Amino acid sequence: MHLPDYKEARTRDHREYNRIDFDFDPSLKDKYTGKSFHIKTYGCQMNEHDSEVIEAILVFLGFQKEEDYTKADLVLLNTCSIRENAHNKAFGMLGRLKHLKNENKNLIIGLCGCMAQESSVVEAIIRDYPFVNFVVGTHNMNELPTVIDKAIETNSQQIEVYSREGDLYEGLPVVRANSYKAYVNIIYGCDKFCTYCIVPYTRGRERSRKKEDILKEIDELIKDGYKEVTLLGQNVNAYGKDLYENYSLGDLLEEIALKNIPRIRFMTSHPWDFNDHMIEVIAKYPNIMPSVHLPVQSGSSRILKLMGRRYTRESYLELFHKIKDTVPGVCISTDIIVGFPGETEEDFQETMSLVKECKYDNAFTFIFSTREGTPACKLEDNTSQQEKEDRLYRLNEVVNEYFLENNKKLEGQVLRVMVEGVSEKKDMYYGYSETNKLINFTSPRELEPGEIVEVEIESAKTWSLDGRVR
Ligand code: SAH
Ligand code: SF4
Ligand code: F3S
Repeated sequence: MHLPDYKEARTRDHREYNRIDFDFDPSLKDKYTGKSFHIKTYGCQMNEHDSEVIEAILVFLGFQKEEDYTKADLVLLNTCSIRENAHNKAFGMLGRLKHLKNENKNLIIGLCGCMAQESSVVEAIIRDYPFVNFVVGTHNMNELPTVIDKAIETNSQQIEVYSREGDLYEGLPVVRANSYKAYVNIIYGCDKFCTYCIVPYTRGRERSRKKEDILKEIDELIKDGYKEVTLLGQNVNAYGKDLYENYSLGDLLEEIALKNIPRIRFMTSHPWDFNDHMIEVIAKYPNIMPSVHLPVQSGSSRILKLMGRRYTRESYLELFHKIKDTVPGVCISTDIIVGFPGETEEDFQETMSLVKECKYDNAFTFIFSTREGTPACKLEDNTSQQEKEDRLYRLNEVVNEYFLENNKKLEGQVLRVMVEGVSEKKDMYYGYSETNKLINFTSPRELEPGEIVEVEIESAKTWSLDGRVR
């Protein structure tokens, strides 16, 4: 049994880590043939991609995918810690699984992902959720096959969570959710320690994958017919800093852009590490999508300082405008937190005025959520929940206005759209533009997912656009 510990998780040193080729224990292959699994994924794209790896591990063990969790033999929750409601969702699901287990004693229940790294969560599971068969942390996903096997063989709760990042595994198996677009991790972890955020504790130190390993993965994706790659990291702009003297995200993007792949995306960008070379490369290559997610969090320099964001309102705006002015047609999206401890109405008004200046194409807006163990926990917070909700409401009204205003400008234009599939109402196709806008459209001919088509935009809505293939 290994239990997580925040003090250790917070440590940053430059000890060496090894790059190891992942290998399965051959004795486990197909051991559980006939059994089924269901994975519930919460949180960010990183977790979605981890679930693709977990799926491949379970398939190796012989499990078969089951869409209905109530019918599965094994249910695994790949969890997220970012805000309290992510926690609540996972615990709510554990409650439902408890009932299922009362009816089916053989049900295997597991928990992995960021919540597994929190000691209070693991303590709660040991104390109050004895029916959970295993917990595996984010740093030792490679041990998942053996932990599952041990939990089943010994019929005892297995808790295997390491607080520190270990070796970096390459060649992890993956069952990709799509056959035309793929996630590719380029950097793990985060060293920024924004004072509100739990990620540096749950995902460890920043570790870049070697460029050769990334380029090889992308070459294979291209060979398999993939049309789009999204480079993933909690802070992709820090790519390379821990590995190379002189090779950063701009250089990596350029090497990938020179390959024969129609669409390259990357997320998330932290303003701190965004340099001019990256902006020039994004502007130069038509297959690097002109879409940048640039979280601002707050428009008040005072609050940004308390958040530990390492930039001011002014330096953020300077970067924002540099990207807008350099990358033709770029769309910029953001994340904003309201109700950070000590945020006054004046601070909030600075966020409102920044939003009015930036006119974002998309924005994810949140009320500050206290994360146990983070420095912001200790800050005095005098703002009522009702006031925070009111700020969120006022902010959303303004950001939504700009989504619509920006979309309206696209009416009559022809956009290149990658087909995703048929919409729920089944009467239209849907897909994403180069700037990552959701487009619903009709077509005179049948289309395949992954195809890139030219769509004439007929009408704009707040969160999507309607059009037709010309
Ligand atoms: N690495 C990314 C963000 C990852 S988390 C970045 O720095 O840009 C995604 C978003 O969740 C953050 O941008 C932030 O807006 C929000 N978030 C993180 N911690 C939060 C908290 N404690 N309360 C509310 N929102 C939070
Ligand atoms: Fe969290 Fe900040 Fe790291 Fe983003 S950069 S993951 S907000 S600590
Ligand atoms: Fe959530 Fe962990 Fe991602 S906290 S947002 S799943 S890195």
